[in-house]
Amino acid sequence: MQQDSESNLILDLQTNSTRFNVLVGLTGSVAALKAPLLVTQLLEIPGVDVRVVTTDHATHFYDISEVSVCVYRDKDEWEMWTKRSDPVLHIELRRWADLLVIAPLDANTLGKIASGICDNLLTCVVRAWDSSRPLLFCPAMNTAMWKHPITAQQVATLKGFGYVEIPCISKKLVCGDEGKGAMAEVSTIVETIKQYIQKHPE
Ligand SMILES: Cc1cc2nc3c(=O)[nH]c(=O)nc-3n(C[C@H](O)[C@H](O)[C@H](O)COP(=O)(O)O)c2cc1C
Repeated sequence: MQQDSESNLILDLQTNSTRFNVLVGLTGSVAALKAPLLVTQLLEIPGVDVRVVTTDHATHFYDISEVSVCVYRDKDEWEMWTKRSDPVLHIELRRWADLLVIAPLDANTLGKIASGICDNLLTCVVRAWDSSRPLLFCPAMNTAMWKHPITAQQVATLKGFGYVEIPCISKKLVCGDEGKGAMAEVSTIVETIKQYIQKHPE
């Protein structure tokens, strides 16, 4: 989708209380190439609105113009704020969202979230997240990265925060390795979100 002026970016976050707002976080895993498909399938759920917050590395893996909703990036956060009365984008996004799903969650951002680092738009949304709302994460990384002992520790830390893991799966990865580490199927992610919407009606 064509990205708009900064004021329109904020107008795009006007809440409509009859909708269930799903914020999709994208990080720099090759699985981010599934972003257009994930967004399309989420928009097919009745009553759901979707917005995307992306890391800059994630944008290497998909074409923003193929995502049919507003995609927020680090530069938007900084360009939007010039004076005291201006909105702070990561706070507006966490206010807007009823549910955050990070799909894919790469090893780098997993480590950052586990240790509380918030140095970009996505990790600021996570750090400011309203813990009464669901936060789902879908790890996606090379099998060797997945097997590193710190991964299990960091996944456990996120679960300890109350976040919900949608586990990765085994398959032949884009890098040629075979084994665990691939992001859950888009259909699994969408089904899990549907269950949350049914469990948490507005
Ligand atoms: C082609 C390519 C594919 C990558 N795939 C993955 C991946 O699937 N999972 C992962 O954890 N990191 C992957 N990386 C490494 C991340 O992109 C890198 O750690 C980056 O700093 C992540 O930044 P971000 O977390 O801010 O998006 C890949 C890098 C490249 C160049």
